[in-house]
Amino acid sequence: VISLRDARPDDEAWLRRSLLAGLIEEYGHFDAEDFADEWRQRYRSPAKQIWIADVDGTPAGFLWALHLPDPSFPAGDTYIYYLAVLPAHRRQGIAAILLRHLRAAVPGAIRLLVRHDSPAKRLYARLGAHLYREEWVWPEQSLDRS
Ligand SMILES: CC(C)(COP(=O)(O)OP(=O)(O)OC[C@H]1O[C@@H](n2cnc3c(N)ncnc32)[C@H](O)[C@@H]1OP(=O)(O)O)[C@@H](O)C(=O)NCCC(=O)NCCS
Repeated sequence: VISLRDARPDDEAWLRRSLLAGLIEEYGHFDAEDFADEWRQRYRSPAKQIWIADVDGTPAGFLWALHLPDPSFPAGDTYIYYLAVLPAHRRQGIAAILLRHLRAAVPGAIRLLVRHDSPAKRLYARLGAHLYREEWVWPEQSLDRS
């Protein structure tokens, strides 16, 4: 049985572990110090809203939304900071349930950044999202090598 709820203070350790695991899976590596800074900044933010999906009463996934004024976004848009489902609970529609819940909870556009090679793009497209802009990045020193 899948059920959604707001995150509680006692979810902090689980959230921290699961966020780090998701980032490492996505980027291959995530610096521990950078993560500690990121966590302090994001978890303390009063503009955050985190939902947890429980499977039979145990956390299996989360959606972490931010309502921060950002000069590059229209006021009132919601930004998804992170979405992750534990590997053992994937492909059962949990991420889709979390996204639909957010869609029903907030007005305005919902935005997120995705790696260009992320398989999650298929899911987002299926749920009605579209690509809004692309960013091109030169990795360090890449001009010297070309
Ligand atoms: C992306 C993620 C949240 C999806 O969670 P989920 O509960 O399995 O998603 P759903 O069951 O609702 O939807 C599954 C769909 O996601 C897509 N998908 C996501 N990751 C996938 C993967 N590794 N392989 C294949 N399809 C994947 C597919 O479109 C899939 O649909 P399908 O089963 O019909 O092919 C989960 O894979 C995850 O936590 N990944 C690691 C963290 C991450 O990348 N987060 C997104 C950052 S933007």
